[in-house]
Amino acid sequence: MHIFHGNYAADALPMIPGHELTGHIAVIGEGVAGLHEGQPVVVDMNIGCTRCYWCRRDEVLNCPDMQQIGITMDGAFAEFVSVPARLAIPAPAHVPDDILALTEPLSCVVRAARKSGVTFGQSALVIGAGPIGNLHVQLLRTIGVAPIIVTDLSADRVQMALDCGADVGVSDPTQLAAAVHEATDGRGADLVIESVGNAALYQVALGLIRRGGHLAAFGLTGPDTALPLDILTTVLQENSVKGSVAGVGEDMHDALTLLSHGRIHTGPFVGAEFPLERIQDAFDSYDSRPDDLKTQIVMA
Ligand SMILES: NC(=O)c1ccc[n+]([C@@H]2O[C@H](COP(=O)([O-])OP(=O)(O)OC[C@H]3O[C@@H](n4cnc5c(N)ncnc54)[C@H](O)[C@@H]3O)[C@@H](O)[C@H]2O)c1
Ligand SMILES: [Zn+2]
Repeated sequence: MHIFHGNYAADALPMIPGHELTGHIAVIGEGVAGLHEGQPVVVDMNIGCTRCYWCRRDEVLNCPDMQQIGITMDGAFAEFVSVPARLAIPAPAHVPDDILALTEPLSCVVRAARKSGVTFGQSALVIGAGPIGNLHVQLLRTIGVAPIIVTDLSADRVQMALDCGADVGVSDPTQLAAAVHEATDGRGADLVIESVGNAALYQVALGLIRRGGHLAAFGLTGPDTALPLDILTTVLQENSVKGSVAGVGEDMHDALTLLSHGRIHTGPFVGAEFPLERIQDAFDSYDSRPDDLKTQIVMA
């Protein structure tokens, strides 16, 4: 939707978008071993150059020449998509396609959690209960994070997140700080994840981490969204802010494992399907279907 509305990576248009994909191998390139036709796969969309400083350090997302399938080059809103064999990850045959298609978005959430170092017994606030915020809540629940506080302007989405594992839900922004303080014995949250993409909410987030806490910079804001950061507080309290963008490598594997073993409630994410021929309707109607956390485009 961000690309569709021209808010992200729109400079690569026109091209075929679609980066959250699963499919079956139709044709294998010459010299590729270890894969077979008909095999179900999910796809790590991040294509690093493999040679630069960052690729050699396994930091593909910072590769200056990185391409992303469906974001900077033709992607999966098509019957066939060409992907590097090394990025096609075999999927267990027993997992349905509509669940496999959640691997990429879940991998982004896995990466953010990994980078934050969050662990069982710690508290977290997730700002935004859209599809990705809901997945943050679910992963934190799986990790053993407690309590999990979630906030969204939509009471329905807050309720969905509560149903999926959050402990405390807040839909009135004026109640947020009090709710976080109450749930964390006045300390603030060990981890706050901004999963909306709103600069003002990043400021709110910074005010709700505990001393020595961590802000996961995750939501994609527009450009030019500088915020005042109180450096002295950051130093004295040993606070941290860390960005993460996309999921790559082990994040994809871990997301696939969690989905394959039923660790994620996928109910709110599956069911809304459109055939490729009606993809325009899918985009046009998405915002009017807030209960559909994901809409899937299915090839004939
Ligand atoms: N860093 C990454 O790896 C990565 C990966 C995927 C998505 N994202 C970003 O994460 C964010 C969340 O993704 P999504 O698909 O769930 O987005 P979304 O736009 O579908 O959902 C955002 C949610 O935020 C809520 N919201 C809006 N304003 C709010 C406010 N003031 N307070 C509380 N809630 C508010 C909305 O009601 C909505 O439910 C987006 O910015 C997206 O671009 C980042
Ligand atoms: Zn590179």
